[in-house]
Amino acid sequence: MSAIGLYARKTAGFDERLARTVEVLRQAAADFGPGALQSTSLGVEDMVITDLIARHGLPIALATLDTGRLHAETLALIPRIQQRYGLAVEVFAPVNEQVVHFVRANGDDAMYRSVELRKACCGVRKLEPLARMLQGRTAWITGLRREQSANRAEVPFREDDGQGRVKVNPLAEWSWADVWHYVQANEVPYNPLHDEFMPSIGCAPCTRAIAVGEDFRAGRWWWEDSSKECGLHATHAEPGTAESESQASPLTFNATTGAPA
Ligand code: ADX
Ligand code: SF4
Repeated sequence: MSAIGLYARKTAGFDERLARTVEVLRQAAADFGPGALQSTSLGVEDMVITDLIARHGLPIALATLDTGRLHAETLALIPRIQQRYGLAVEVFAPVNEQVVHFVRANGDDAMYRSVELRKACCGVRKLEPLARMLQGRTAWITGLRREQSANRAEVPFREDDGQGRVKVNPLAEWSWADVWHYVQANEVPYNPLHDEFMPSIGCAPCTRAIAVGEDFRAGRWWWEDSSKECGLHATHAEPGTAESESQASPLTFNATTGAPA
């Protein structure tokens, strides 16, 4: 059964939530101009935001982090966005030498061996390119929602990202039913892996389908007993973890291990 069939439902207050989201996006475009960027994982929340940006003709650029371990189905959305909306998605990839060093030193599947190695992989493949993606930007737009996890329960429409920029979360108050209702009503293209019980999609080795009754993010880094954040959203990691502490330090990495320097 498709994710639309399973989840799409128009619930009370949807139109008001949608109107507030559009206002948050308009205000971001007005306040930050070319300093604003949509950071899209190409997951369904981000596809909804891209659809809204296109539909309302907002001058907000799109960018994604291609870690080198994404599913082909995820990458296939980049040309689909171009075809459907006429919008280009700028792709930021990790530094090849850092990836080669990391894999040579730690193997292809190092993430399963320890939380430290997993975070080091995210450091090389996500955080270093993220720093480049955000260079010269004053605000980034994400698909974070309060409902996604306990860590994200307080996500506001706008927050300080801890690195000197504003993070804008236009879908903060949306439910999963809202997201799929919007997709259905507007025929938004989406990753077919969402139809395979993958509500939250990251890198292929670190994403699996969830079972009935499991948490929304249970399929991300499922073997870990951690807060299941990779450092992109340090302000929503558990207090006292390396992720939350990393906000204070600049984003620099050891070129060999990829560990934060
Ligand atoms: S993650 O930190 O666990 O990977 P999640 O997949 O929930 O994050 O996505 C939350 C938001 O982070 C997305 O809506 C998007 O704004 C941003 N994000 C996550 N992964 C990427 C990516 N590969 N490229 C760009 N932005 C991303
Ligand atoms: Fe590496 Fe997994 Fe992090 Fe992707 S999510 S960067 S594969 S550890």
